[in-house]
Amino acid sequence: MLYNFDEVIDRRDTGSVKWHYSDETIPLWVADMDFKAAAPILQSIEQVTQHGILGYIKPTEALYDAIIDWHGSRYNLQLDKDNILFSPGVVPSLALMMHVFTEVGDAVLINDPIYAPFMSKVEQNGRTLVTSALKDVEGQYRLDLADIEAKITQHDVKLYLLCNPHNPGGRVWTAEELEAILTLCKKYNVAIVSDEIHQDLTLSGHTFTPLLTLATGYEHKVVSLTSMTKTFNIAGIKGSMIFAKDEGLIKKISQQQHLNDEYELNLFAYTAMRSAYEQGGAWLTQALEYIEANIDLTVRFLEEYLPDVRIMRPEASYLIWLDCSAYAKDDQMLYDTLRDAKVELNAGIKYGQEGHLKMRINVACPKALLTEGLNRIYQALENSSKH
Ligand SMILES: Cc1ncc(COP(=O)(O)O)c(C=O)c1O
Repeated sequence: MLYNFDEVIDRRDTGSVKWHYSDETIPLWVADMDFKAAAPILQSIEQVTQHGILGYIKPTEALYDAIIDWHGSRYNLQLDKDNILFSPGVVPSLALMMHVFTEVGDAVLINDPIYAPFMSKVEQNGRTLVTSALKDVEGQYRLDLADIEAKITQHDVKLYLLCNPHNPGGRVWTAEELEAILTLCKKYNVAIVSDEIHQDLTLSGHTFTPLLTLATGYEHKVVSLTSMTKTFNIAGIKGSMIFAKDEGLIKKISQQQHLNDEYELNLFAYTAMRSAYEQGGAWLTQALEYIEANIDLTVRFLEEYLPDVRIMRPEASYLIWLDCSAYAKDDQMLYDTLRDAKVELNAGIKYGQEGHLKMRINVACPKALLTEGLNRIYQALENSSKH
């Protein structure tokens, strides 16, 4: 089946987070695509409602098989049913991991910039936030391994929250980079939680490596978190997975989940998860093609009209990290300038100090919307640079 990603679907007045504006703002922010979900997912939900019984539910063998097959065939990640737990979301799991691996006051390491909940969950849970800035090397982020090691020893870090693929920079960390992280963490006995929610949005020319495929011998300290929600644009359904290969660790995580009785998903999440992994591949392939074309369109537009915006071309995802420092001196003013032009992007500063004068744009929308949004960005920044 061929999907039409050019279709503009009105999302106003649906309770959508992305489209909550009452005016004509074009929202190119939160990581949510403006594309209709894959037909097999929608059909699987329709089947449930047609059946008409919405009672208590548990994960089926077929669901486990779908998860195991997807990860085994795409990433050579060999999972057993016993390696898989369910969680309402990756962010709730990040919070849970504080309790699995650390005590109040312990140091938790993250990179800067980073998806904002990495910071807030550490702090809200009373842990000490330690950051290691990523280095911009010729327009792509690199890990600063020397700094990471210094931070680990200086602060006695207990847990490293890794984001792979990285949000907002779009890097897909290579196997070599992941090996280097593992070596450091093993040396100092630091646990690693790898948020891999953007794994399936890896773009052509890049290879996603699940951390667990490299963690042999250190599996008691490695957890990965992922979900079908980002991949298949069904974030409103909520639902995610926790993978760990060590029996004792899985047991500990499960016990922690049971403290709040938060280890189950709802009927629609299980249903969508299974149909997505069993039958969503064709939609995903087409969505990624459309996204790559939108990334090209955005890069070409910016290079032509706003040549002083420095673009970090993503290796995964539909999010592009833009350095707008040539066009602004103040973070709030930069955000407001775009806001006033009725185009909404994420302010980079929300992702840490490294986000100063940067903006994150989401290009997963029909070309017509993207083009209008880019024109507004051009008008706004071009005008502001004249003042
Ligand atoms: C890196 C990363 N982790 C987690 C999430 C959200 O996960 P969830 O909705 O499952 O809590 C996002 C959403 O944008 C994300 O970019």
